[in-house]
This record gives sequence, C-alpha cells and structure tokens, in this order.
Amino acid sequence: MIASNNSAIVVAPPDERAPAHRLGEALGLETSILELASFPDGETKIRAPAAAETTLLYWSLDQPNKKIMPLVLAASALRDIGAKRIILIVPYLCYMRQDKAFRKGEPVSQRVLARILSQWVDHLITVEPHIHRAPDLTSIFDKIDATNVSAAPLLSSLIEDDGANANAALIGPDTESFAWTETVAAQSGLPFAVMSKVRLGDHKVDISYDDKLSVEGKKIYLIDDLISSGGTLLTAAALLRERAAAQIEALVVHALCDASMLDALESRGVDRIRSLDTAPHPTNARYIAPLLAETVRSEIKL
Ligand code: R5P
Repeated sequence: MIASNNSAIVVAPPDERAPAHRLGEALGLETSILELASFPDGETKIRAPAAAETTLLYWSLDQPNKKIMPLVLAASALRDIGAKRIILIVPYLCYMRQDKAFRKGEPVSQRVLARILSQWVDHLITVEPHIHRAPDLTSIFDKIDATNVSAAPLLSSLIEDDGANANAALIGPDTESFAWTETVAAQSGLPFAVMSKVRLGDHKVDISYDDKLSVEGKKIYLIDDLISSGGTLLTAAALLRERAAAQIEALVVHALCDASMLDALESRGVDRIRSLDTAPHPTNARYIAPLLAETVRSEIKL
C-alpha cells in the first residue's frame, strides 16, 4: 500500500523500475519512472515526470560509461522541477578501484567520480563500495553526505537459508576480504580464514593459502565483495579443489561477470554462486531493498 507523501518520492530510470519499486514500497513512497530515449546522434533525451522536495534517485552504476551522463541529466531535470534534496541510491558504485595514479598520466578515477556526483546530489547511499586504501566513503565524498550499507546481514542470511552445517567454513580470497568475511562468519557462527592474493593483470591473480584452517571435506563459502573479471574466484576455487574441499559456494555482494565466466566457474568446481541485486545478474539471490529502506529511514528525514 503506497501512502501519499508529497515531500518525498523515489525516481528511477526504466531499467531500475523493479528494484526502485521495491524500495518505494518498503518506504511507503510513490515511485516515478524517468522517460529515457536517445536522439538520432546517440545523445540521451530525458524527462522527469515528477520530483518531490526530497527525491531518492535510484541508479546503480554497473556499466557506468553509459549511465553517468543520463544520471547527471536526470539530476539536473529533477532540480529544475523542484527537488530540493537529491539522495542518490547507488547500490553498486563504480570507479572506486583506481584510487591513485599507479603510473604517471593516469587519473585518480575514484576522485573524478566523487567530484562529478557531488555536484549533482546531496547525499549518496551505496552498498559495500570497492574501496581498499581510502579509510572510508566519507574521505572520498567529502563535499556531500555519504553512507555505506553493510551487506553482511544479507550474506549471512543466505548461509542461514542452507540450514546449520557444522562442516562448513568461510574463506575470503584475499586479505582485503578479511573484514567482511569476519563479520559474516561472526553472524553465521562459522570458522573463517582468508587467502593471500597478488594481482598479475586485469583477469589474472595468484592466490596462496596457509592452510591454518583445513578445507578438506568441508563445504566452503567463498565470500567476496565483487566478481568482476571472475579471475579471483576462479583461482580461489581451483586452489580449494586441490585442497579437497567437498563443496564450494560463492557468496558475493556485486556480480558483474558475464555468462561465459559463470560457465568457467562451474567447470572449475564452484557449485553455486549467489549475489545481491545491487546489479542485475543471473546469480541474484537476495533483494537489497529492505536494507536500503532501513538505511534511508535511519539517515534521511523524509
Ligand atoms: C579485490 O580487491 C576485490 O575484493 C575482488 O576480489 C576483486 O575485485 C574481484 O575481481 P575479479 O573478479 O576481476 O578478480
């Protein structure tokens, strides 16, 4: 049941209709869908049918290069028709990986994206952004409010769905995954360990494991924030199979890899992959909307 609330609304592009509706319903707000088309030369033509004083703009930024300009145009249109405060709900936040110029002449993409979005929105809410060296999200988005939603409760709830299993353990594929693997392990009451990873290229990584926690004969949940190229999970799964893990399941927050990588993971012994719907993907197994709604309720005065 949608309550009328003229001071707040959820707005989304057509391809975010379903998740945006789920958020709107959870908050008791109307959801308005942007009209989006292309001019013959490929430029984006956009129209915002509605805005409210507080406008929650729902826009996940997987495939960022085709989404960022439409998002900026939409934010501008929403301001023009009365949005006083734009809260960007961006379940997957792109361009967070490049946080320094690794070679002279490279941009710090993380900072560039923050500068673009900060011009157009007042507050950003995202889920487990891919940041490693920056201390937190607010150090990147220092001109606007920024909130990180932890996905750990949803990943633990996926483990809970499988029922109790004393022979299960959690493994993070690299030291960066320590914090969220530890949190999910604490919530699900299972032992955990992390591997060590060295990145050799965009698709290739080298992973080693010290075997402090034996995986032999166990059901292993591989926990990661992201499948991008799939190289990390592929290498981690091969290593776990070598160590005679009985079953391997991957639980990830954001799944961005293509279908051929899903086949490769299956053939490398990954029995199942489940992800959250922060970006649309065949592995989506949990809606993020309830967690987002909870965060909006606690962070934003509607
Ligand atoms: C590492 O920094 C991340 O947590 C993920 O492990 C990584 O980004 C996955 O990327 P890919 O699927 O390309 O190996």
